[in-house]
Amino acid sequence: MPSPLSDFPYRDGVMQCEGVSLAALAESVGTPFYCYSAATMARQYHAFARAFAGQEARICYAVKANSNQAVLRLFARLGAGADVVSEGELRRALAAGIPAEHIVFSGVAKTEAELGYALSIGIGQINIESAGELDVLARLTAGRDRPVRVALRVNPDVDAKTHPKITTGKAENKFGVALHEAPSLFARAAAMPGIEPVSVAVHIGSQLLDLAPYDAAFTKVAALVRQLREAGIPIRHLDLGGGVGVPYRGELPPDLADYAGIVRRICGNLGCSLTFEPGRFLVAEAGALVSRVIVVKQGVTRRLVIQDAAMNDLLRPTLYEAYHPVLPVRKADRAEEAIADIVGPVCETGDYLAVARPMPPVATGDLLAVMFAGAYGAVMSSTYNTRRLIPEVLVDGTRWAVVRPRQSYEELIGLDRVPDWLDEGAAG
Ligand code: LLP
Repeated sequence: MPSPLSDFPYRDGVMQCEGVSLAALAESVGTPFYCYSAATMARQYHAFARAFAGQEARICYAVKANSNQAVLRLFARLGAGADVVSEGELRRALAAGIPAEHIVFSGVAKTEAELGYALSIGIGQINIESAGELDVLARLTAGRDRPVRVALRVNPDVDAKTHPKITTGKAENKFGVALHEAPSLFARAAAMPGIEPVSVAVHIGSQLLDLAPYDAAFTKVAALVRQLREAGIPIRHLDLGGGVGVPYRGELPPDLADYAGIVRRICGNLGCSLTFEPGRFLVAEAGALVSRVIVVKQGVTRRLVIQDAAMNDLLRPTLYEAYHPVLPVRKADRAEEAIADIVGPVCETGDYLAVARPMPPVATGDLLAVMFAGAYGAVMSSTYNTRRLIPEVLVDGTRWAVVRPRQSYEELIGLDRVPDWLDEGAAG
């Protein structure tokens, strides 16, 4: 079984991340842990940037995909801005050195406090998703010297043909405003002194492997831009969202040149500058979740490989039935494979990383690598079953660093507080 990813090659039968052995890392930091390749992140960033070279485009990395400070700093150094969806993400982006003017604040509904904070740090753009949100922003910006740049996120009612839980551009989804409502909202925004409505934003979903839905959505957006301009609203900018998918199952991934071609064909003659908000594309392939087999047991109907990573560490298989390749860190001598479920120790039947997967023989103590885990992995983890948040390691060539240490039990349990009244009159 070869590694599907070039920055995770086998060397002398042991999987590496770039120039560092995952087995050696497991000895140093313990399991489970996330391991990220800086080279993959940089390569993906450059591929995206190259595809849009010649079009006036800014890449605002979608922080939600992987918000570790080291990852954000890496993208900041490559010149990326950030797409954030909460005050927390905004603070993370600023802390990592991403300039405020290169940050887009998206999100289905920002609180007044979050909008106020964003204004206070001089945010580059706020993407408004409802009339109510626009009114709050109007109130907060009234009387300010400098108007805030605003995009209105529209819901184009286009099916992205991805998993229902990560489809965002259908009429029944909670995101954005209907296309037919956009002109009147833009007109209202244009009359608000603190607001400069200069952009239309659209994002139809995540993990798109087919480019046709982009074509459909961007066509609707381009028509809206023309309509708005005729109505005297000078749209100068487009925010075309994220969503480009990655080949978890070895599918043929979308060709970025084709994607850029669609953008150029549909939006090229609008004279708008562009923002993209890729998350998954930049980091998914850069990450592996490394775990150790606790025990292999023959269940009643299935062979179960029970290892020390669980749904609280990587929720995607449980939540979306997502597929992640699972490979042995040490290549098996014998090639024969048997079907197994790869499960964790959490007390839920839904706690699995892979179901009915052909696996080489593995035994207690063996290391496994769950691939394509760099996006929506660590960020979606929890401490369910009082399991500690696991370490993240960043590799760059032969260098590596723990970029988030394993949480301690003291830190985890120490967050709780017992009220005095539970101690009053206690026996003993
Ligand atoms: N922009 C907006 C407004 C978004 O809502 C998202 C993702 C992105 C950009 C980045 O999309 P990407 O390039 O990463 O596809 N937890 C799910 C994915 C949720 C995506 C939500 N929005 C998963 O693990 O598949």
